[in-house]
Amino acid sequence: MTEIGWIIVAPVMFITCVQINTASQSEPHYRWTTLDWLEAHNVSHELYNVTTADGYQLQLQRLPRPGARTVLLVHGLLGSSLGWVCLGPDKSLAFQLHQLQYDVWLANLRGASPYGRRHLELTDVMADFWRFSFHEHGTYDLPAIIDRMAEVTGGEQESSGADKEEPPRQVLLIGHSQAFNAFLVLCSMHPRFNQRIQLMQALAPLARLHGQVRFDSAQVRSLMKFVKKRQKSNKFEIFPPGYFRKRCQSKQDQCEYYTKRLAGSAQSNKRLLDAFNYEYLLQGGSAREIQHLQQIWKSGDFIAYDYGPIQNMQVYNGVEALRYNLSQISVPTILYFGETDAIATPEGVHGIYARMMSSVRSVRRIESPKFNHFDFLISSEVKTLVNDKLIESMEKFLEGKLSYIIE
Ligand SMILES: *[C@@H]1O[C@H](CO)[C@@H](O)[C@H](O)[C@H]1NC(C)=O
Ligand SMILES: *[C@@H]1O[C@H](CO)[C@@H](O)[C@H](O)[C@H]1NC(C)=O
Ligand SMILES: *[C@@H]1O[C@H](CO)[C@@H](O)[C@H](O)[C@H]1NC(C)=O
Repeated sequence: MTEIGWIIVAPVMFITCVQINTASQSEPHYRWTTLDWLEAHNVSHELYNVTTADGYQLQLQRLPRPGARTVLLVHGLLGSSLGWVCLGPDKSLAFQLHQLQYDVWLANLRGASPYGRRHLELTDVMADFWRFSFHEHGTYDLPAIIDRMAEVTGGEQESSGADKEEPPRQVLLIGHSQAFNAFLVLCSMHPRFNQRIQLMQALAPLARLHGQVRFDSAQVRSLMKFVKKRQKSNKFEIFPPGYFRKRCQSKQDQCEYYTKRLAGSAQSNKRLLDAFNYEYLLQGGSAREIQHLQQIWKSGDFIAYDYGPIQNMQVYNGVEALRYNLSQISVPTILYFGETDAIATPEGVHGIYARMMSSVRSVRRIESPKFNHFDFLISSEVKTLVNDKLIESMEKFLEGKLSYIIE
């Protein structure tokens, strides 16, 4: 069933392999969580427990600058807020934005480890906990998070004597990978958020996968088989903590192969490979997340999760899965792609542009001959290749001077 599964599996496996082979595990920062990073660098932070309408309890983290422009960073598949801090204050985006006086918020969507794994009634070993894909990230998690931010910053406005009638402050959104899919769901299912998001910057967006993924069908089949097997044995989390370490001990070649396919610039940079050692950087993933991506890959359209005709009738009132109405989306959007990205390929990202011409303001190529899906998180060049560009575009946009560039 799932092609994309493999794609995702591989880097994680590799991470574990590297752990076995290097001494880096003894270096404590590979085991740090987001909060460890913030504490180690004396960055003051606030934590908020956000409860979604369907009972998930997500930790929202903030590097506060009350009154400043608000930026929300949203992680992608298998990620968490750690991806925005794990290269430290000199390189990672969250620190950089904070130094530039932005009010920085870090989302943790359901399933993210360790900050998105609580629920009012369920535990993270129950099947029901893992019945989600980016549909639920966009339908439940992002609205709860953005509303909570507005509540907090609105309260700060009041106490500074501002007009109570002022509308909620707009949010600048930055997302990696599947976060873009969640954003599309958010703005099509809850159109009021089109007014609440000032700008969306999407790194390696996944919404257009048809005919794009650079893996052959045998690889895809084997991934889908793997996902099914996990489900059959009631393991609904696809890559639980520690899984890859074990797996890569017996299948190291496989791990290395897939990791190379997914982190291009890491191939030639030993230090980058070290970065894969982070204990919490990539893990988790629900079977449904992977199946939903596979359905998009197969159908060529941006559809909601397809339960099959009978259950679709109950859920969507039709035999077919709901097609998200992308013409609802009016948020100005900038798309970024890596030349060698094996999942969010250049063609796939241009396909999103073709579909969303009215809201896409720029399509930018990362200026490197080898830049792949997970390089957006772990490339040692991420500051100059990605973050500086992203911040420059954002500032130009805010001044009304963003150039329309399609690369
Ligand atoms: C953080 O603060 C502590 C205590 O003031 C200090 O010892 C430490 O060097 C600081 N760390 C950094 C990275 O600034
Ligand atoms: C959030 O929830 C956790 C677990 O219930 C609790 O320990 C923590 O104090 C809460 N934090 C806030 C800011 O309410
Ligand atoms: C999609 O949204 C647009 C804009 O709001 C609306 O005009 C159109 O009727 C919608 N299409 C469907 C199929 O709901």
